[in-house]
Amino acid sequence: MKIIGPDYLVFGVDDVDACTQYMTDYGLKPIDVTDKGGRLEALDGTGVVIRHRDDPSLPRAMETGTMLRETVYGVADEASLQALEQELSKDRTVTRGSDGVLRCQDDMGFALGFQITTRRALDLPSERVNAPGDQPQRPANELGCTNDLPALPRSLSHVVYFVPDFAKAEAFYKRIGFVCTDRFVGVGPFLRPGGTLDHHTLFLIQTPPFMKGIEHFTFHMGGPTEVMTAGYRFVAKGYESFWGPGRHQLGSNWFWYFNSPLGCHVEYDADMDLHDDNWTAREAPLGADASQYFLFEHRPKWAPGGPGPAQQH
Ligand SMILES: [Fe+2]
Repeated sequence: MKIIGPDYLVFGVDDVDACTQYMTDYGLKPIDVTDKGGRLEALDGTGVVIRHRDDPSLPRAMETGTMLRETVYGVADEASLQALEQELSKDRTVTRGSDGVLRCQDDMGFALGFQITTRRALDLPSERVNAPGDQPQRPANELGCTNDLPALPRSLSHVVYFVPDFAKAEAFYKRIGFVCTDRFVGVGPFLRPGGTLDHHTLFLIQTPPFMKGIEHFTFHMGGPTEVMTAGYRFVAKGYESFWGPGRHQLGSNWFWYFNSPLGCHVEYDADMDLHDDNWTAREAPLGADASQYFLFEHRPKWAPGGPGPAQQH
């Protein structure tokens, strides 16, 4: 079952205009957005769908306040879809819609979809770094950063769920090929599906049942400079930084989280570790020291200088 990762997330929100503006300012491209919402995409075609919470086309709302209505995964091939259908229909209702999406619910009640991935292959350089001791990654006269650096989200990276029973939730995802790459003890696992090497496309956090829902989602950027640049521009547009910028320990991903009108946090991330089946999962207690190597705080721009030359009399 080669699940690659989430292709798109579907939200039912209170303020459609605020949410589509937010995701546009974040860097996604509106595709078919009207006053009723629509789809916004990253460079590879992964993205989010925003609708009003009363829109009848949405999957039903969870019993909690979460605005997430559906997580639709991209899979590598038809054989993976068929394997998923066979496994999941053992103990739950599975449907295949006219859009080709296989749909069901996980064991926590999250609505899931699976489709042959619609993401486009990207051919873009990652951030290039020069350092003594290594061959130059960026040749002479190629600038490392410019004021017009695009810094656009490239691909939907991961989603994080608050769940009331992480062990039960984890057991479900293991049935469909996810493996635990690392774990916060007593809190939940980082999960990597079978079709990607990314450290995680799903992270589970145990919470009381009333909190069940999405905690955050994020898109991969081209490198740490793009995380800083996009985050800086997002702050300048008036959005509120929640956590970051910094660099996580488990996954090594650079991060910067923001508050959003989607009822969850939205993150920029970059340079996540890759793992294969030779990796042995680590365990760590959840706490500030285990959650990041370092954490910065956004500051307004500044330059050194004095009061200027003394007046001559
Ligand atoms: Fe994250």
